[in-house]
Amino acid sequence: DLSAQIANMKVNNLFLNASGIHCQTEAELDDLMQEPVSGAMVTKSMTPQSRFGNPLPRYYRLANGSINSMGLPNEGFDYYMDYLKTHDQIKPVIVSVAGRSKEEDLAMLHTLQDDDSYQGLTELNLSCPNVIGEPQMAYDFPAANDLLKEVFSFYKKPLGIKLPPYFDLVHFDQIAELLNQYPLSHVNTINSIGNGLWIDVNSETVVLKPKGGFGGVGGSMVLPTALANVRGLRQRLNPSIKIIGTGGVTNGRDAFAHILCGAEMVSIGTQLYEEGLGAFERVTRELTDIMEAKGYELLADFRGKLKVI
Ligand code: DHB
Repeated sequence: DLSAQIANMKVNNLFLNASGIHCQTEAELDDLMQEPVSGAMVTKSMTPQSRFGNPLPRYYRLANGSINSMGLPNEGFDYYMDYLKTHDQIKPVIVSVAGRSKEEDLAMLHTLQDDDSYQGLTELNLSCPNVIGEPQMAYDFPAANDLLKEVFSFYKKPLGIKLPPYFDLVHFDQIAELLNQYPLSHVNTINSIGNGLWIDVNSETVVLKPKGGFGGVGGSMVLPTALANVRGLRQRLNPSIKIIGTGGVTNGRDAFAHILCGAEMVSIGTQLYEEGLGAFERVTRELTDIMEAKGYELLADFRGKLKVI
């Protein structure tokens, strides 16, 4: 039994795509919707208007992960709202919104709030590292607090936020204290580790075109950072705020570790991109095998129960 629940969203499998992976176009969303194993899906982070994103090349595979600087390519808010209205939701869809300003975020959230046909989960992305000239809101605590205060003055549907990784325990304390003031459905942690740099030494050149080669790092090399953020936030957040664990999941053991740290659901990014949607079936089978070997029936049997020495 791999069921899980966040707010009104009940799933029979805890896995979903990480936002950005295979979720920009109608055809990609259809693939995720029809994929038989994953319990939910999330859209590409959207902006009010469609965007091409950053110049190419903007994704590069590394030995133990990936680096990207996509720059928020997406089809625009209305496209995704139209998708939801015109396609059967075989599984729940989380709407990821990422305005480039407070005003853009508020505009999209107002439309979602006023749309009676939409009752799903929304995720406000405060952590895109790749838009040229735009800092990550979640690293500016007063600005994030201002935004959330205004959002929750009118937004009454389930809302979570996507966070970047934090690296100092003082920052864990500060972000958790801030977030605990709000009735968030969940936090999704981590986004990519922002502004890494990879270099091809033969040609002495960066591998990405945007931002002089700087980009967000994902994949198995970020697993320790992801686990620390899931664990550190689970220890600090109100129990009513669930956690979607994201970052560095390539197999069932990685997913098991995220759940031990307190994840309610787990998303797969780089590995899903590299392996294709079959990753859901494989990782689910691997997780089920570990649970059977340990005699666990439910995720709740071990969720958050990490042992310390
Ligand atoms: C992009 C990257 C992110 O990590 C994110 O949260 C949103 C958008 C991007 O480059 O498209």
